[in-house]
Amino acid sequence: MRKLLIAGNWKMNCGPYDAAELLEGLISQKSEVDENVDVLVCPPFVSIGMAVKYLYDTDIQVGAQNIHFEENGAYTGEISGSMLAESGCNYVIVGHSERRQYFGETDETVNKRVKKSLEHKLAPIVCVGESLDQRKSDTHHEVVENQIKAALEHVSNSEILDVVIAYEPIWAIGTGETASPEQAQEMHKHIRNILTNLYGDEAAEAINILYGGSMKPANARDLLDQKDVDGGLIGGASLDAESFSEIINIAEDLV
Ligand code: PGA
Repeated sequence: MRKLLIAGNWKMNCGPYDAAELLEGLISQKSEVDENVDVLVCPPFVSIGMAVKYLYDTDIQVGAQNIHFEENGAYTGEISGSMLAESGCNYVIVGHSERRQYFGETDETVNKRVKKSLEHKLAPIVCVGESLDQRKSDTHHEVVENQIKAALEHVSNSEILDVVIAYEPIWAIGTGETASPEQAQEMHKHIRNILTNLYGDEAAEAINILYGGSMKPANARDLLDQKDVDGGLIGGASLDAESFSEIINIAEDLV
């Protein structure tokens, strides 16, 4: 059985001081988590150290929001996989739509970052998802299939077991609009079929496929209850300790 993974994506929020406050709130509500639920927060780079320190004794893990695909060197402003691993990260978000949209991330660089994450034993959370126009023109299945195939190029049968996919329809991110549970399930099933074609049934059944896009306590239960929705990548609601803990409670209730 797949565990549920509840991951908080803090985006460009919470420097070390605000991070400490948010983490204290989170720990006071939820330092122990059911063994069938994995919980993770992804602070900005400068607050990773704070998160690792605060969460050391809890069941909550720490991830990053991006990774560079070179090992080290003259790449001003970038952070390498070994730096993230050394800082205490276990996961890293790769190819978020905001990175694709605002920072020139392409399918090719997403693939390089996925490969580099795996090299450093950081589980990549690979983000895919269509725009509103693509959904309206009924090309969303094809768009997501192409993103997945490109992101996973040269990822081996053993490596794939460490990969997490996050389906995040762009039209639902930060907009307050959510995919309906049926829309989410339908796309997640499509993604699992793509993974089956690429890696076989057993691997596809083991891979976590998260939903992201305005998940909050009010809609989390219906989304997480879908057969192929294995967790959430949560932006806005992860910045509030109470909301995030509530979503974790819902996940615990469902496993
Ligand atoms: P949101 O963000 O929950 O604020 O919509 C999700 C994400 O972008 O990962």
